[in-house]
Amino acid sequence: MSWLPFPGYQRLKRLSRQVARICPFQGDIKPTRIPLLQFGSGRPTLPFPHPWNYDQPLKILETFFWGADEETGSGRHNRYLNVPGFATILVTRDPGVIRSICTDTGDKEGQFDRDTLPSKGIARATGKDTLLYSNGALWKHQRKICASPFGKTSLFEPTVFHDFTDTFRSTVTQRLEALRQLLKSSGQTKLRLQLEPEIRAVMLELIAINFFGAEVAYDELRDRHVPALGRVIDSIVTDTVKNPLGIRVTRLPSFTGRIARLKQDYAAFEELTDLVLVGRGNGMGLWKKFKSEAPDKALRSNIKVFLAGALEATTSYASWAISHLARNPEAQEKVFHEVKDIDDYNPDNLEQAKYFNHVLEETLRLTPSLYFLPRRTTRETRVETADDRGIVIPQGVHVLLDVWHANRHEDHWGVAATGYPALDFVPERWAELAEGGRVSKETLHFGFGHGPRVCPGKHLGQLEVGLVVGAFVKLFRFHAVDAKNEAKAGVSTKPADGTLVELQLRETAGNPTDKVK
Ligand code: HEM
Repeated sequence: MSWLPFPGYQRLKRLSRQVARICPFQGDIKPTRIPLLQFGSGRPTLPFPHPWNYDQPLKILETFFWGADEETGSGRHNRYLNVPGFATILVTRDPGVIRSICTDTGDKEGQFDRDTLPSKGIARATGKDTLLYSNGALWKHQRKICASPFGKTSLFEPTVFHDFTDTFRSTVTQRLEALRQLLKSSGQTKLRLQLEPEIRAVMLELIAINFFGAEVAYDELRDRHVPALGRVIDSIVTDTVKNPLGIRVTRLPSFTGRIARLKQDYAAFEELTDLVLVGRGNGMGLWKKFKSEAPDKALRSNIKVFLAGALEATTSYASWAISHLARNPEAQEKVFHEVKDIDDYNPDNLEQAKYFNHVLEETLRLTPSLYFLPRRTTRETRVETADDRGIVIPQGVHVLLDVWHANRHEDHWGVAATGYPALDFVPERWAELAEGGRVSKETLHFGFGHGPRVCPGKHLGQLEVGLVVGAFVKLFRFHAVDAKNEAKAGVSTKPADGTLVELQLRETAGNPTDKVK
């Protein structure tokens, strides 16, 4: 136990050091301090979310690295904000530091926590006792009771896998058939369409009906639950920034039409969760693989995280993959030739579709769905990187692992490091990295995180995205309406144009969906 002269001593000491502008970090990694205000700098925004800029989170991160490319030291990729009276914020786009901090996040004494500050809105929408929001022993317990059905061992067990992909395949086939009919009935050979809402509907169907066995009609799911859950997810970001008192929307009187509608949306979310839990009771979907005795009540908030999180992340991932292919016709043709004869989407076949896998890998690198990973030090912590650099971070610092900007920086993913410019979408870079003997731990893009808190839904998510994108490429040839591929960001990132494409059937004779199996 340490001896302290009087209560609040540490806080006062920190405040005096902040006022004196003393760097709170030690070690050979020396982050650069950024000012709160920088008039005339041309900097995109203030370096923290507030009601004017919170809808531009990528720009907030960018602000930390304004002018950083002129630096040559470790401040080039590590920056901090230290406003007197507030907790220090460290932002890093240094892959070595990101990897070490991810590895050192967990329930052990002194390890990093996942910072709960940016997910307060998520906790109000789903509950605080979730796998996503909790830390320490509670997190470990939650991970144990509910991550197993998503694991590779459960999912890819041959019998389970075949039952499961059969239902998945028929869902995807039916939805693509509906698109084909839409195209046919338009009397045109080409159809201009924003694909994000279509992808969102199919993804919710895959997770809620196929995976969790909820019994709900597709039209009800598409017309009621998809928009309702979409609005709940959108409200999460607003709620995190604009609700300092932390009042749940469901407790507010319906002052405005927006609040009234949001309350209905939250009610629809509860109903969908109920339907999933009924599926558990009846042993539907993959619930049969779920061995836990945990009562429904203990799983409820996690189910909500799975529904909302899986919907958001898989929609983002598939939308980006289609969006990149829509701007890269050669890559699209290569994927088509690889997947056109795959009738059975089993892990072996998917693994053999090497180029397609590289397309998916490159998608997560260039446009990661979760654009930053939040962490917080639980005590003073020394971080050591694999290349022997180090930094000591004091207790209570908010650390933002800026995966978006790390993955797009020329220093880490550019011509010198990978053979191609970092900002270009080039699936070929992955084959060259492998040929050059680069092992996977040297080329982490953190698209599913890393370390103990890595995404438990990785295998399920990859399967869903592979199936949806693969089947789509098999059936349609498509190109982007707008050459630019800009991002919007909320809980996850997505193409700003809503994945607006012009699509054309690859075959006009017969029923092409016969081939999408
Ligand atoms: C395919 C698209 C997906 C992507 C890109 C993705 C990405 C991620 C990332 C980057 C993390 C780590 C966050 C961090 O380190 O702070 C994460 C965690 C998580 N993901 Fe996913 N995810 C996807 C699909 C899913 C699915 C399908 C589920 C569930 C069915 C899921 C459930 C979760 C949960 C519960 C966590 C928190 C785990 C923990 O803290 O122990 N994700 N995801």
